[in-house]
Amino acid sequence: MAVPVDRRAELDLEAIEVELLLEGIFRLYGFDFRQYAPASLRRRLRRRMDGEKVETVSALQDLILHDPSVMERLLLDLSINVTAMFRDPTFFLAFRTKIVPLLRTYPFSRIWVAGCSTGEEVYSLSILLAEEGLAERTRIYATDINEAVLEQARLGVFPLEKMREYTQNYIRSGGTRAFSEYYVARYDGAQFTRTLVDNVVWAQHNLASDAAFNEFNVITCRNVMIYFDKPLQEHVHRLFHESLGMFGILALGQKETIKFSPHEAAYEELDGEERLYRKVR
Ligand SMILES: C[S@@+](CC[C@H](N)C(=O)[O-])C[C@H]1O[C@@H](n2cnc3c(N)ncnc32)[C@H](O)[C@@H]1O
Repeated sequence: MAVPVDRRAELDLEAIEVELLLEGIFRLYGFDFRQYAPASLRRRLRRRMDGEKVETVSALQDLILHDPSVMERLLLDLSINVTAMFRDPTFFLAFRTKIVPLLRTYPFSRIWVAGCSTGEEVYSLSILLAEEGLAERTRIYATDINEAVLEQARLGVFPLEKMREYTQNYIRSGGTRAFSEYYVARYDGAQFTRTLVDNVVWAQHNLASDAAFNEFNVITCRNVMIYFDKPLQEHVHRLFHESLGMFGILALGQKETIKFSPHEAAYEELDGEERLYRKVR
């Protein structure tokens, strides 16, 4: 039998290995990274290859398919979990001044925080809603693809050394109390008041492959879609459009926009700077 032509020289072999790896991860673990932006994906895979001391993507694939603990570590690399309390304080200020008055007009509201990471954003929103007297009539659904970060989020313990920065953020976001009222220091951690998250439902949800699960008044998905390629961003915008009630609010991260997406016409800008959009059709 003739050996087929070897096309190694013409093709980007590593790109093929990456495709195979992502397909394998999807089939075995159900995590769908097949549409993540390729350049940053490759950077993260290389970091994991260094961590596992392997030279090729195929060798990494072999480990991942046979050892779930390697998958866990890759998941942490792939889903960069950087976050902060009252991150981008002007966003939370805009939330207070522009969204809170809208929420007041509803007897009950549902907010979806998609890609909530270790929960800092959720605790920030809970504090804000409590201060505005809305905690009792709001439910927050906080989701992430990564169960390990949700575990941390449920605990509500954040590094004590971050509290100075978070206090500044809180003040700049329009907070009026003493920020230290909301936590007690425990060793090197700040344990946030448990009752703050009485109204929060934490759940694993993959924006790439899971379906809509409720109708919301507000969806915030900040600093998540920057890692997705265009088709996946569009898929997620479709999911959000489906999941928002009429006049519902979509909040994106500072580097994200609804502009140039097929859903642009379905929204009007509530605050362009702070990436707040209202569904109008
Ligand atoms: C940079 S953090 C953003 C956290 C927070 N929203 C903020 O702005 O501070 C991105 C989060 O998105 C999550 N994520 C990545 N891909 C996801 C997906 N397909 N579905 C749901 N969450 C995802 C990651 O696990 C990570 O926790």
